[in-house]
Amino acid sequence: MADRIPNSFIDELVGRVDIVEVIDRSVPLTRKGREYLACCPFHDEKTPSFTVSPVKQFYYCFGCGASGTAIGFLMDYSNLSFLEAVEVLADSVGLAIPREPGSSPKQADPPMQLLEIVGQANQWFQHQLRKHPDADTAVSYLKSRGLVGEMAASFGIGFAPDSWNALTDALGRSLQQREQMAKAGLVAQKDPDGVAGDRGVYDRFRGRIIFPIEDYRGRVVGFGGRIIGDGEPKYLNSPETPLFHKGAELYALHRARKEIGIRQRSLVVEGYMDVVGLAQYGIDYAVATLGTATTRTHLQRLFRLAPEIIFCFDGDRAGRSAAWKALQVALPEMHDKRQIGFLFLPDGEDPDTIVRSEGGDAFQARVDNRTPFSDFLLDHLTRQVDMNHLDGKAKLVSLALPLVSQLPDSVMKEMMFARLSALSGLTEIQLKKARSANLVPPRAAGRKAGPGPDSGQISPLASATSLLLQNPALGALVADMDELRRIKMPGSEILVGMIGLCKGKEGQTTARLLEAFRDSPHHEYLERLAVRANLIDEDALESQFKDTISRLLENQAAQHRMALLEKARRNMLDPAEKEELARLLQARAKP
Ligand code: UTP
Ligand code: MN
Repeated sequence: MADRIPNSFIDELVGRVDIVEVIDRSVPLTRKGREYLACCPFHDEKTPSFTVSPVKQFYYCFGCGASGTAIGFLMDYSNLSFLEAVEVLADSVGLAIPREPGSSPKQADPPMQLLEIVGQANQWFQHQLRKHPDADTAVSYLKSRGLVGEMAASFGIGFAPDSWNALTDALGRSLQQREQMAKAGLVAQKDPDGVAGDRGVYDRFRGRIIFPIEDYRGRVVGFGGRIIGDGEPKYLNSPETPLFHKGAELYALHRARKEIGIRQRSLVVEGYMDVVGLAQYGIDYAVATLGTATTRTHLQRLFRLAPEIIFCFDGDRAGRSAAWKALQVALPEMHDKRQIGFLFLPDGEDPDTIVRSEGGDAFQARVDNRTPFSDFLLDHLTRQVDMNHLDGKAKLVSLALPLVSQLPDSVMKEMMFARLSALSGLTEIQLKKARSANLVPPRAAGRKAGPGPDSGQISPLASATSLLLQNPALGALVADMDELRRIKMPGSEILVGMIGLCKGKEGQTTARLLEAFRDSPHHEYLERLAVRANLIDEDALESQFKDTISRLLENQAAQHRMALLEKARRNMLDPAEKEELARLLQARAKP
């Protein structure tokens, strides 16, 4: 495992296999025009919306948004790891996997090793719940909370004994293993009281009930540990590690994903025990954030599975304020067909307590009666102003416009303008004028180029990347790579890299480009760009791509020019920069 598979081999492999054959083995496909069709294996459906493109070597489901390459398909459909999927594919076309020789453990793919050690820890924790002499306390605590054994097993709940070194002793025999454990957040190295002994590390989770946290593929990447009974902190979570990112993962997402697809909705709650409690009452489409606020990544992950997200919060102040935060994050994601609802529980209750006292049907009825996004938005704002006075109405408008204008163009946005108009007495035209007069920023500026709409507005950089991913031949149109390399913005290196991969290369496909950037933190976004509806006629593709690249270069030149001008103002230009500035100013003067 220490050896790394060279990227060039992955590229060759993805170029060699045919995704249609690979998928057809598990999901029989029917040809339709240039593509192949089937009922989606990732969600329940009666009419096929799962398409496979032999040209792009890529699959995409219009129903649930599942998408990927042949490797990705095997990972998601057959629950294989990346390496396993590569092995299966290489076998199927008779290629032997070369390993990059001499790669010392340091250079080896750290996440794979971390995954392994975290997986072992997960087994160990679960074993302790069954076998450790002190596990009684944990078991009776879980029972006292009404949890049945099957549920505990189904969620892989485990037990960390109250010891400084039990896990370290079990899994951390070598120094290298202990280093991995530290990287994976299983043990801590700081040792204020000498508890770490001669091993130099000590167990992070002690005397706790352990909830394994899986990534969307079902691989354990971190843990949450609840204290048994009372104590502080009530929950201890894995720290951020190369595997585990609280802002991206959702508890139980892998387990819930099928049911989310069937129900066409997901339910977001706050706690581990809420998810487990709901599942025990047959509500299997709930996931939980991990002690952090909802992020855009969370929303995007859930929207890929189903068009509706329902947030469930406590009815108290903290709950409402968490809901408001979630609403603000969600604004730019509210494309047509997507919905968000809010479910507020009575003060002092959480999903776990309420489903136990009321039962699954009553809880389901609450879900059905959720508050729509737009109602919550307006209700929350009108509470802050006095709607009996003109001032109050003006205040409402000034509070609402910056939010409403973050909505992508959609029916909902139009309806919000209409409702705001009815509430404030301003006409919709006046409202829109107020917005365009820049009384309010048009969009939350400075937001990272996160995954965008399926066909709404995205940045020129994202747009160029999307066009290229879908039409690798466009890469040949870029003449001056040096100029392009000067662009410095998040993600620009990906575009530059991809163009490099496309230039002078026959047979480049969407899939190969995606696989080349599998390790990028933006990989998921790239997958979405690969399926984005760019709504451009085929014969306008080239000019559109060229225009977009020119716009990027112009923006870059403008920024550079401004920076130099600013320096010039402070008399800090060196001769080379002076020349450069002159050149740039001249270039701008040209028609
Ligand atoms: P809650 O305090 O609402 O806990 O925290 P809960 O889930 O209802 O817990 P029980 O029912 O008492 O067992 C909600 C979530 O916030 C995070 C955890 O993810 C928890 O599930 N949290 C809470 C922490 O990370 N640390 C804490 O100390 C408390
Ligand atoms: Mn609770």
